[in-house]
This record gives sequence, C-alpha cells and structure tokens, in this order.
Amino acid sequence: MSRSLLSITELGPEGVRRICDLADTMAEVNRRPNPKVPALRGKTVCSVFFEDSTRTRLSFETAAKRLSADTMTFSVSQSSLNKGESLRDTIETIAAMGVDAFVVRHGSTGAPWLVESWTEAAVINAGDGWHAHPTQGLLDVYTVRTALGRTGGLDGLRVAIVGDVKHSRVARSTTAAFSALGADVVWVAPRTLLPPVVGERSTEDLDEVIDSVDVLYLLRMQNERMSEALVPHLREYTARFGLTRERAARLGPGTIVMHPGPINRGVEIAVDPAELAGALITRQVTNGIAVRMAVLFDLLSADVTSHALAGGVPA
Ligand code: CP
Repeated sequence: MSRSLLSITELGPEGVRRICDLADTMAEVNRRPNPKVPALRGKTVCSVFFEDSTRTRLSFETAAKRLSADTMTFSVSQSSLNKGESLRDTIETIAAMGVDAFVVRHGSTGAPWLVESWTEAAVINAGDGWHAHPTQGLLDVYTVRTALGRTGGLDGLRVAIVGDVKHSRVARSTTAAFSALGADVVWVAPRTLLPPVVGERSTEDLDEVIDSVDVLYLLRMQNERMSEALVPHLREYTARFGLTRERAARLGPGTIVMHPGPINRGVEIAVDPAELAGALITRQVTNGIAVRMAVLFDLLSADVTSHALAGGVPA
C-alpha cells in the first residue's frame, strides 16, 4: 500500500478494486441514521486547494469528518503565500502543525508529487493541471459498478468519453480507471480537443458510437484552460458533440449518462439531465463521499483496527 494517492496508474487495477470494495463499506456507513464512525479518530486531514472546487473539496471534508478525522482547510487568498512564502515553505509549515494527509488541488501538473517529496504525510491528488484527478476516476467507476450491480470488474463495458479530452484531467483518470477494470474506452472529440499523442481509440463522430455505448461520459468544455479558439463556435460543438434531444432519444434503455460537473448547460448537454433515465450525475456526487472515505481509510488506517468502522458516534 502506497502512502499517497497521486494517480490511477500508480494505484493499479488491484488498488482500484480495493478502493471500490472499501467504498461499499463506506456507503453502508453513509446509509446509517448517524453516518459517523471513529475510524480515523486522532488523524488530521488538510485541504490545500489552489484552484476552485465545489464537489471535491466538500466531499473530502465530509468524508474526513464521517471518519472522525480532524480537518484543516488552507485558504490561499488568506495565506502568507500572498506575502511571498513559497509552496514548499507553506507545506512544511502546515506539516509542522501535525498533518496526516494533504488533499491537494493545483493548476500545475505534478504539484502533488512535489508536495509528497516535502512531507511525511500522505498526499492525495485532488486534481493537478490537465494531468490527473484520481478520486474522480475512482468515483466514476464505483458509480457504474454499483449501478450495474457488479462486484468485480467491468469487462466488456463500452464507454465513450466525449468532449474536451485535451484539457481534461478527468478524462485521463476516468479512462485509466475504466481500463483498469477491463472496460473498453473510446474518446470522442474534435482533433483540436484531443491530446497530441492519443493512447486510446478515438473518433470525431459521436453519432458513430452513440447507439452502441453502455456509458456516455460527457466532459465539461474547459473554457478557463483554452488559450486559443479550438472549436469554431460552441453552437457547432453542441451540434457535433453535445447530448442533444435527438441523440438522447437514440440512447439505449440501459445507457448510463455521466458528467463530472460542473455542467455547461446547453453546451455539452442540451437536455435536462433529470429527464434522462440513465443519468447518474447526482449519484456520482453522492458516491464521491464514500469513495473519498475509502481513500482516506486506505491511506491512514494502518494503525487502526477494522472494529473502528463498526462503531457509532465517537464520544
Ligand atoms: N468534478 C470536480 O472535480 O468538481 P469540482 O471542481 O467542483 O471539485
């Protein structure tokens, strides 16, 4: 077991399955009237977010609290970074207060690896640049696994990941997580929104695959990460790559529709997700808590007993 979670690649297929299995236990905790266990009592989890977040930051905070860990939230705008303190000095200063895990989001690829090299604490990558967002990948495969009632892998499942793959850390981690469980992934995007080296099967024609996929995973258009006009117009993007009303009508009865959020309504998804029988977008958010509880427990519980998960509210 690694002391950090930085990428799905480093976690490996066995690690993806272990987290999903553990998330089942955490989901059971979350269904209790009082969803709190003393599993990580005495541990401290610090969130260090250099980029905006709603889902990841709040679900990690909730996950830590449900496991009875103490939480610290570092606010960039109110910190001594504004007085010129370096990232390294900032991390070492917080670590000196006694932190067991850092949850790090940063706009620069590789930042969580640097943080890991500066601290003895566990480091969880909550999104670095365009590169990786491993807990999003984990919650995505966990959501599909539970929706399909599977307990093992996802062998043979056909997954289309559609949209701005180039700028998307979610696309990379979610592809890696689905592949780790045996699913077949195809990227659907205009050439300008694919990375220069495409390791996956890819197509520019959504209509070619939409009738045959089991999972349609729509990515957010990353307007804040585009430095050039990579699509002629968002209306044209929606016409070619969006989930329009016409395409929604072509989805199979069991086709799952996913999105990591936040949604650009009318761009990548031009129908109300609430009208789609197979939409699991809200369930992705809910499952994010169980999966992040599983990750925190996996990394921090080496010296706690399994009885800690069975307990109720700590005194
Ligand atoms: N999916 C995701 O990472 O959302 P947030 O940016 O709100 O955390």
